[in-house]
Amino acid sequence: MGSGMAEVLKAIPPPDAKPHVVMVSGKGGVGKTTVSIMLGLVLAERGDTLVESLDQAKHLLEYLSLSEVNREFKVFGRLSAMQFDTGVGVSKLGREYVWLMQRIMPGLKVLNAESVLDMVRNAPGLEEEVYLREVLRLYSYDRYDYIVVDTPPTGLTLRILNLPRLYKFWVERLISLRERIVSLRYVIARSLGQGDEVLDDPVLYKLKEIGERYAVLERELLSPNRTTFVLVSTPEPLPVYEAEKTTEFLKSLGSKPGIIVANRIIPEDIASKLGVREIQERALSKLRKLDCRRPCAMVEIPMVDSVPSSLDSVKGLLSKARIDLYS
Ligand SMILES: Nc1ncnc2c1ncn2[C@@H]1O[C@H](COP(=O)(O)OP(=O)(O)OP(=O)(O)O)[C@@H](O)[C@H]1O
Ligand SMILES: [Mg+2]
Repeated sequence: MGSGMAEVLKAIPPPDAKPHVVMVSGKGGVGKTTVSIMLGLVLAERGDTLVESLDQAKHLLEYLSLSEVNREFKVFGRLSAMQFDTGVGVSKLGREYVWLMQRIMPGLKVLNAESVLDMVRNAPGLEEEVYLREVLRLYSYDRYDYIVVDTPPTGLTLRILNLPRLYKFWVERLISLRERIVSLRYVIARSLGQGDEVLDDPVLYKLKEIGERYAVLERELLSPNRTTFVLVSTPEPLPVYEAEKTTEFLKSLGSKPGIIVANRIIPEDIASKLGVREIQERALSKLRKLDCRRPCAMVEIPMVDSVPSSLDSVKGLLSKARIDLYS
């Protein structure tokens, strides 16, 4: 592998705790899946690596000819890949919430479990939470040194990143509400001469477990030793705007991207003929100026004629990539 690729590795710290998670995000269609496979190939030179796609378009399946979702396949050398599907997770989580809701709001028991389940399953945020739980699982999946996560389009990634905070906010309030209920019940139970068993509240236990889970996830996502954010964009105004917004958002959380990828750069002579050279240059210069963690790798990949659609074509693309390291 060329020296260029070694530069990319410098922007990803060697894992001090396995695995190091590389979160690849960007607007729809900019090349997230392609870049995830590229980074997977590079990282597999250094350690056992898994590329996992959370993208429900499931392009990873076609790209790497995987025959099933939710199953890991060895792809090449120390590289494995998996396409995640939310279906099973959504049903499972739905049932968990039905249980919780029927206990927090006993009134709901008059509705049958199926209709409550239906309501929960279609609740906004449930799918995002399934993604969150999957990402949390990956942080403790120490069979791999590196896990590259091909995330769904930017909007969703940002919402996912925001969820741990949102959940913490709600869960903390629910916990204090529940604590009041439990202490009232205790007072009543004592006055009736009953025991302490009301203090052993399964709902409170469950809420605390959820709260703890999101606190852990937030810590992992924001720790530079455990996570590297990769922003992928094409040199066009809208994807660049999204990359800028994502950078601002990461900053508001106290984090920064570690790798910026400008994909599908049109060769200058062709760009001139097409009259897009200036637009492209402007977009590239904005990407180069993004506030990036040091050392920061700026990867520039040309647009190729034949649409990459296999592992070999991604390897070909990798050899055409140009990398600058800012330290
Ligand atoms: N450098 C490149 N030159 C030419 N075509 C490319 C290049 N990079 C990616 N493509 C093609 O562009 C399309 C989109 O790429 P890819 O599927 O990786 O994007 P994505 O961001 O994952 O998309 P989605 O948001 O739909 O998941 C694919 O057909 C891919 O083969
Ligand atoms: Mg994709």
